[in-house]
Amino acid sequence: MSLFRVEGLVKRFGGLLATDHVSLEVAPGEIHALIGPNGAGKTTLVNQISGLLQPDAGRVLLDGLDLTPLSMHRRVAAGLSRCFQVTRIFPQQSVRDNLLLAVQAHTGSSFRFLQPRSQVRSLYAAAEQLAERVGLQHSLDRTAGALPHGAQRTLDVALALAAAPKLLLLDEPMAGMGPDESAQMVTLIEALRQDMAVLLIEHDMEAVFRLADRISVLVYGKVLTVGTPDQIRNNPEVQAVYLGTETV
Ligand SMILES: Nc1ncnc2c1ncn2[C@@H]1O[C@H](COP(=O)(O)OP(=O)(O)OP(=O)(O)O)[C@@H](O)[C@H]1O
Ligand SMILES: [Mg+2]
Repeated sequence: MSLFRVEGLVKRFGGLLATDHVSLEVAPGEIHALIGPNGAGKTTLVNQISGLLQPDAGRVLLDGLDLTPLSMHRRVAAGLSRCFQVTRIFPQQSVRDNLLLAVQAHTGSSFRFLQPRSQVRSLYAAAEQLAERVGLQHSLDRTAGALPHGAQRTLDVALALAAAPKLLLLDEPMAGMGPDESAQMVTLIEALRQDMAVLLIEHDMEAVFRLADRISVLVYGKVLTVGTPDQIRNNPEVQAVYLGTETV
């Protein structure tokens, strides 16, 4: 039933168990949020999922395929894309060129001489479609590094979408955003669920409770509980370790 599954992931940093037998499942079309206090192991988990870190034990499975031995690149090709918090944007290039490079990387074509004109045209069309999908169609000719923070984040999501992922990993997409930018990002993520599942790591609880179908709570490297937003909101243990006693 699940599209994506993490089974018993263990990662040790010296004596510290950063992820302690973490298991979770994401259903097709689900937005699954991962929350937890600072240092809970969220980024360490995401890094093992994307392939940046190799786990000491456990497996990562997408659509029945064991991704654990695969490189980051292979995982992307298998359908798992991740946002990189802007770091992979080429700031001197235009939005269009950034998108073209991403599209080209995933279609296997290149900008060599003697390339059929139709192929070049279809790359441009794909880049423009991506821009439209995320609402950057009016910024195609702008220099990526000169965009406001929220728009750069949005471009980063568009670059991840170029790979046509089955599962999109988002590590704090709202970080550093103002309320308007956050609201736009919520709308964008909400629209993605038609085409893919999303694993969302986010500290902005308003966004998490609005978007998530289910929430996993990570504490000291372990999954404390999994549930719907209502179940999580009303869980006394979660309130004690994370949400505080005030109503969220
Ligand atoms: N490369 C590393 N070497 C040693 N310890 C690390 C390393 N990366 C993370 N840690 C430790 O592992 C634990 C989990 O860190 P991680 O960054 O995964 O937490 P997080 O849930 O993403 O926190 P935050 O909400 O602050 O982003 C922390 O105690 C952290 O100090
Ligand atoms: Mg983190």
